[in-house]
Amino acid sequence: MSAALAGVRIVVSAGPTYEDIDPARFLGNRSSGKMGFAVAAEAAARGAQVVLVAGPVHLPTPAGVQRIDVRSARQMHAAVLSALPCDAYIGAAAVADFTPRMTSPQKIKKQAGQETLMLELVKTSDILAEVAASPQRPRLVVGFAAETEQVAEYARDKLLRKRLDLICANQVGQAGAGFESDDNALLVISAEGQQALGPASKQTLAGQLLDLLAERLA
Ligand code: CTP
Ligand code: CA
Repeated sequence: MSAALAGVRIVVSAGPTYEDIDPARFLGNRSSGKMGFAVAAEAAARGAQVVLVAGPVHLPTPAGVQRIDVRSARQMHAAVLSALPCDAYIGAAAVADFTPRMTSPQKIKKQAGQETLMLELVKTSDILAEVAASPQRPRLVVGFAAETEQVAEYARDKLLRKRLDLICANQVGQAGAGFESDDNALLVISAEGQQALGPASKQTLAGQLLDLLAERLA
């Protein structure tokens, strides 16, 4: 039972970002991109016009999806904002919160006797919060929240702070859920309440999430 999304434009972000330290090294995270790619695939299968802004992952492009590959949080920010306006933004990417103040043009070498290295990091722009605050705010703004503890509390705080319509919280660092896994469980939280989805495959969860979005867009 799939809800038709014909004529709806959806922008999805997925995967990690890589923040370069020097030509050989970067700061990354464990996001596989699978959840965001599954959402993009399901949305396109239901007739939506889908733009997928993908961090560095080796996943095939889902059928019918326009994919924009990016590497850093800064590039993802630019790609997402230039994909507006849209009807729904689904921020499934694990965007770096901090990035090196400077990327060294040459490989950083150890100095003789050096025991520590300080990296200065600066905060990145919050893409999701900016989309939600934009004059081109989509009708639906959906975030994800990967938490290791106090999942519902932290996610609800993000829902309110970033002025989202929905946030999909998942507990990471547990077997069979979250990063890297093909399966996941989500707690979908809105101002009106919350609903548990899964555990199920990311494809099944993507379908259930899109049912909720289609209801809200109707
Ligand atoms: N997000 C974003 N831009 C950032 C950081 C996060 O768009 N610079 C989005 C993510 O795509 C996700 C949501 O914000 O949809 C929540 O990400 P998360 O890392 O769980 O929350 P943060 O607000 O970064 O808070 P913290 O990492 O401190 O828990
Ligand atoms: Ca974060």
